[in-house]
Amino acid sequence: MSERIVVAAALVDGGRLLAARRSAPADLAGRWELPGGKVEAGESPEAALVRELHEELGVAAEPGERVPGRWPLRAPFVLHVWTARLLPGSAAPEPLEDHDALRWLAPDRIWDVPWLDQDVPAVERVIAHLGLG
Ligand code: CDP
Repeated sequence: MSERIVVAAALVDGGRLLAARRSAPADLAGRWELPGGKVEAGESPEAALVRELHEELGVAAEPGERVPGRWPLRAPFVLHVWTARLLPGSAAPEPLEDHDALRWLAPDRIWDVPWLDQDVPAVERVIAHLGLG
């Protein structure tokens, strides 16, 4: 089966990274992730990122660049991460679907939350890529 990409956002504002707590499915609930979702057929990763951030958080965001790396999820999915920022005038993020809490994490707080196992190496790469911390 060919690979399917899940895009997630390193959404940064004022030097803080947004983390979202999953409310479902049961085995992932309570763990934190970089918000995102599956790239649909015919969709670019950047467009998927903008769509997912709007659907899940109610924000207007702009993708930046890909954070180098790829992190396997349950087959056939593989996680790619892009930097992103809120557009001027965007609403503040709210947990509209999939999540029940959000936190803007300052660099010294990034490891305060229990990230999904598969997000841990991605978050490490985000920190290095963005020079956070
Ligand atoms: O919203 P959509 O159904 O497109 O995607 P999702 O359910 O949010 O994410 C698809 C899969 O990627 C799920 O199994 C998530 O657990 C996983 N995922 C992840 O491991 N890490 C992320 N930062 C985002 C999604």
